[in-house]
Amino acid sequence: MNAPLTSQESVRLADESAQDRGALLDAAGRVCADDFPILARPVRKRRLAYLDNGATTQKPRAVIQALDQFYEQSNANIHRGVHWLSQHATDLYEEAREQVRGLLNAPASRDVIFTRGTTEAINLVAQTWGQGLQAGDEILVTGMEHHSNIVPWQLLCQRTGAVLRHARITDAGELDLADFKAQLGSRTRLVGIAHVSNALGTVNPVSELVRLAHEAGALALVDGAQAVAHAVVDVQALDCDFYAFSGHKIYGPTGIGALYVRASILKDLPPWQGGGDMIRTVSFEGSTWAEGPQRFEAGTPNIAGSVALGAAIAYVRTLGLDRIAAHETMLLEQATEAMRAIPGVRLVGTAAHKAGILSFLVDGIHPHDLGTILDTEGVAIRAGHHCAMPLMSYFGIPGTARASFALYNDLRDVEALVAGVRKAQTLFGV
Ligand code: ALA
Repeated sequence: MNAPLTSQESVRLADESAQDRGALLDAAGRVCADDFPILARPVRKRRLAYLDNGATTQKPRAVIQALDQFYEQSNANIHRGVHWLSQHATDLYEEAREQVRGLLNAPASRDVIFTRGTTEAINLVAQTWGQGLQAGDEILVTGMEHHSNIVPWQLLCQRTGAVLRHARITDAGELDLADFKAQLGSRTRLVGIAHVSNALGTVNPVSELVRLAHEAGALALVDGAQAVAHAVVDVQALDCDFYAFSGHKIYGPTGIGALYVRASILKDLPPWQGGGDMIRTVSFEGSTWAEGPQRFEAGTPNIAGSVALGAAIAYVRTLGLDRIAAHETMLLEQATEAMRAIPGVRLVGTAAHKAGILSFLVDGIHPHDLGTILDTEGVAIRAGHHCAMPLMSYFGIPGTARASFALYNDLRDVEALVAGVRKAQTLFGV
């Protein structure tokens, strides 16, 4: 690993070639960051160092153009029309489903339900599969979950009398496996696990946790929101029953995401939202439901968003998720080392296996103040509890500052972060 960068080096790096400054290149040798128009705009008269990718990623031209092209050339409602445009739009929508299948290596595209994102996907599971729960049944999550993998289960528990349990984490921000095993029992019906913690970057040993869940007779749901853009995901290798993710965190539009459901579970899941497109027949005496994912896609879905998500997936798969992962690991290692070298900086989340996220505190500076000062330098980070309040409570802190990396970041972004933190310390006299 290289030594941390100094400010002078940063200026030098800006003038150096893309390779020297650690930029990810595509197969043609072009800098991937050039595919993202927003990165060329200055923010606060500075070069933008966008390090809030855990919250949402920026969009490549391929995605922006897919949205434009859909509305310019292909817009019609799907699954309903006899006319050419409707069939064309339907084909594009189903091709996007096939792109999601490929991304997750799901056995079939009919195992993929389009949702608004991870949150809606988990709520879908809680409200459909969860209908079968009884008082005393248990849901087990980890202590590092995002609120979206806690609150839907709390609501389900309120409705059914089921019990939500959580497995402890360690001070390094890793799951306490012994506690996870101890909490699994004959009443556990489902285990909910973040693939990658949004607040700490910890990568959980999902295959092992799924195996343990199955041995205990429980199903396993994986929140993949922070994973799909940063690693190769294979739901068959993981053997999970549900896998949820959001399109906007993998360079796609907001308002679209997907849920993979194991086919043998999906076939018996009751619907959740009623309306057009999710039925087979409707009469005033009663209705019957569509087969497959359509049963869970009531109403006109986000057709353009799905098509653009398909374009985003094609984009990252062409670059190669393994290459993207290696690039982000390099940036994370550089940033970790540089931040560790700054007196007064404390890293929060030092798991052995991490992906793309660096959470930290600076003595004497509230994370929000730090975020504001970094913003004046053109460095965008997230500050706060990151929708993981139980995790912050565990650490006894109100929140952290969080830098999160994406394929278009390079060493100049790391240097801008480090220089901004040093500037904040100077301003605060700490
Ligand atoms: N869940 C998103 C984040 O971690 C919004 O920032």
